[in-house]
Amino acid sequence: MARIVILTGAGISAESGIRTFRAADGLWENHRVEDVATPEAFRRDPSLVYRFYNLRREQLLSDEVAANAAHEALARLEDAFPGEVLVVTQNIDDLHERGGSENVIHMHGELLQSWCLACDGRTETLGAVDAGSACAGCGVVGRMRPDIVWFGEIPYAMERIEEALTGCRIFAAIGTSGNVYPAAGFVRFADSVGAHTVELNLEASLVHSAFAEVRQGPATEVVPQWVDEVIAAGR
Ligand code: APR
Repeated sequence: MARIVILTGAGISAESGIRTFRAADGLWENHRVEDVATPEAFRRDPSLVYRFYNLRREQLLSDEVAANAAHEALARLEDAFPGEVLVVTQNIDDLHERGGSENVIHMHGELLQSWCLACDGRTETLGAVDAGSACAGCGVVGRMRPDIVWFGEIPYAMERIEEALTGCRIFAAIGTSGNVYPAAGFVRFADSVGAHTVELNLEASLVHSAFAEVRQGPATEVVPQWVDEVIAAGR
């Protein structure tokens, strides 16, 4: 059965009100990435890192943020396509799930989850977490960290992703700048196994030349259109 693998990045959630990483000012929500999204930052100033992700979580759960037409189109594809549709997202938001997708891998972790370094368990997290938080699983206090893959850490589920790419017929990348590996290398891998590769992005990404097809525009326009075409082709 044919399989589609879709890599998504911050651009698919931009029209949902969540800022992308590499804005013109080079800052992520007013912070340098290395001050909030590295293991070193967490060791140096845990309260800043806790506060930063608590704010991101609060924003994600606010009324202003909702899944958009691009997230919903991918859920529609999962329902209508006769083969497997797998979304591999670099995003830590839950907008694919809210849009209706069920087959989703969060390779860079999830904002609504915490990781206990004492028992290695994960717990759903909707409120604030800090150095005084206890793990709901083992009860140990002070060992919870955001379940985010920071710079310098290894992305999650790489084996499952590689396996999926090996058998894929179509590979699409949506809203990702191609700056961060290993995700930016998926297109070359998919191409090497004979998949059709397509980039859907506001502008050409750093790796656009590796794709067989490039479509430019806002995700809420280009993604539903592409999904309609794939469903109509039915294979
Ligand atoms: N529709 C489609 N694409 C868009 C839109 C939109 N409305 N708005 C922005 N984009 C594009 C930008 O042109 C850019 O190429 O989305 C891309 C976003 O790029 P980045 O901000 O670099 O985000 P991403 O590629 O997801 O970053 C990868 O880097 O910081 C780390 O771990 C973090 O997962 C993240 C990773």
